[in-house]
Amino acid sequence: MDEVKVVLYGVGAVGSLIAKSLLEKKGVKIVGAIDVAKEKVGKDLGEVLGLNRKIGITVSSDVDAVLSKTKPNIAIHATSSYLKDTYPQIASIVKHGVNVISTCEELSYPYYSEPKIAKELDKLAKKHDVTVLGTGINPGFLMDTLVITLTAACQKIEKIEAVRVMDAATRRLPFQKKIGAGLTPEEFKQKIEKREITGHVGLEQSIAMIAAALAWELDEIRVDQVEPVIAKKHVKSEFIEVDAGKVAGLRQTARGIVKGKELIVLDFQAYIGAEEEYDAITITGVPTIKQKIQPCVHGDAGTVAIIINSIPKVLKAPAGLLTMKDLPVPSAAVKDMRKYL
Ligand SMILES: NC(=O)c1ccc[n+]([C@@H]2O[C@H](COP(=O)([O-])OP(=O)(O)OC[C@H]3O[C@@H](n4cnc5c(N)ncnc54)[C@H](OP(=O)(O)O)[C@@H]3O)[C@@H](O)[C@H]2O)c1
Repeated sequence: MDEVKVVLYGVGAVGSLIAKSLLEKKGVKIVGAIDVAKEKVGKDLGEVLGLNRKIGITVSSDVDAVLSKTKPNIAIHATSSYLKDTYPQIASIVKHGVNVISTCEELSYPYYSEPKIAKELDKLAKKHDVTVLGTGINPGFLMDTLVITLTAACQKIEKIEAVRVMDAATRRLPFQKKIGAGLTPEEFKQKIEKREITGHVGLEQSIAMIAAALAWELDEIRVDQVEPVIAKKHVKSEFIEVDAGKVAGLRQTARGIVKGKELIVLDFQAYIGAEEEYDAITITGVPTIKQKIQPCVHGDAGTVAIIINSIPKVLKAPAGLLTMKDLPVPSAAVKDMRKYL
């Protein structure tokens, strides 16, 4: 069988990590790379990835030219978080009859926030006989797919809670800036108001996916205002120092509510100096299940894995817009990719 041909659409921080991992992998071949960033277009992919060698693939902003020339089996799309922005990009891939896996957070469960776009995308994917999936570590796995999987051992469920606590000191500088590390509380508030800090995107998608899997009809999904986590003492990372009283990061919670009762609560915390890093899930029911992963799963490494491991599942899936809950049990594709097809 031929190698699986992959085109990268978006070679930013995450797209680059995915590319590097794919280059190491047997049974897959990167055949093209698309990006709009001026500093990347026209350059060899090896140079954009910071490797000391050329790969023979020039990063291009011409989607149609790349896809018609390379005829890939799948495109890995990693450009932005909101479906209104990514829909035209994803549609341009689908129209070439190419399957898509995207890191776009809203695409992980688009039926709640963007039902119209979701319907259109599903129709388009079916018309062109391809599968589209939005996934990643979170949303995509830790606070939804993993939760849904654990519910399989429950007869009754009263409440679901998932908490992710990350020490942002171990993350990239852009991530630390994204969570407001080092700002004063006033600067943080202003950036929230100007939407320069948006918090974690995906909590409502994760709640909607869990509810859909359990056939729970929620009255409301409430996403709380992003709160700053204030440093109690001086903390630092490789890039940023945070004095006591300044912002070390953020916390965001979201709730799935029925008749005033919170059935699903997701709590996301990312700040420099978190003493304990973990992903915890508590399902109160029959039986009650408590699961704790320590340290928490690394966001970037986990995202790269979920995206690549989803390739064979997506290639074998029926046409349409699917979510993680529609695919078989997630698993790693650690050997030659063709073994999983
Ligand atoms: N679900 C998850 O668990 C998960 C995990 C990680 C990341 N994500 C999401 O994945 C997305 C990508 O993350 P990232 O950190 O790699 O972002 P990034 O570093 O900003 O990279 C995005 C790249 O895509 C390019 N781009 C933007 N619009 C484009 C377009 N229309 N056509 C082609 N290229 C385009 C950007 O160019 P410019 O720089 O010129 O804009 C940039 O080079 C983000 O929305 C992130 O939140 C999700």
